[in-house]
Amino acid sequence: MSRIAVVPGSFDPVTLGHIDVIGRAAGIFDELHVLVVHNPAKAALLPIAQRVSLIEQSVKDAGLPANILVTSWSVGLLVDYCTDVGASVLVKGIRSQVDVAYETPMAIVNRDLAGVETVFLLPDPANAYVSSSLVRQVASLGGDVSPYVPAAVARFLQND
Ligand code: PNS
Repeated sequence: MSRIAVVPGSFDPVTLGHIDVIGRAAGIFDELHVLVVHNPAKAALLPIAQRVSLIEQSVKDAGLPANILVTSWSVGLLVDYCTDVGASVLVKGIRSQVDVAYETPMAIVNRDLAGVETVFLLPDPANAYVSSSLVRQVASLGGDVSPYVPAAVARFLQND
């Protein structure tokens, strides 16, 4: 039986930290779905379709394996998507104890709701301080985001 995992997130925009975790997860699971989900708690920078397209480009440019599917989800619970596609695992990147505190309640609820387990993966420490919110702030003030995001994202944000 092939093991399908889902990496969900806002990815607004995708960062080098995300690509790091996506690459690690793709090496562990048979099939990996990178799922762009609207998070109503966050003010969005990019439309969902643009985020999907930038992830696809970044995954390709990074030479990541072909078992990665990038898509989006806007209706219902995250675990409904998992059930629909037969995924039993969610993957989240953990940069610090702050991420553990943020992710743990969601992991427990997703397991309670549908038996979907969450696996936490650690990025390269070089990516431990990279976040989409920081990138959004630097980009909005005209700063150089290229150390934090894939080249396709830097090009897109800086030509905006
Ligand atoms: O990148 P983010 O913004 O931290 O990702 C958060 C996200 C989108 C993964 C989270 O908000 C989420 O899981 N949303 C789906 C809604 C849902 O299923 N909620 C109930 C279980 S937590």
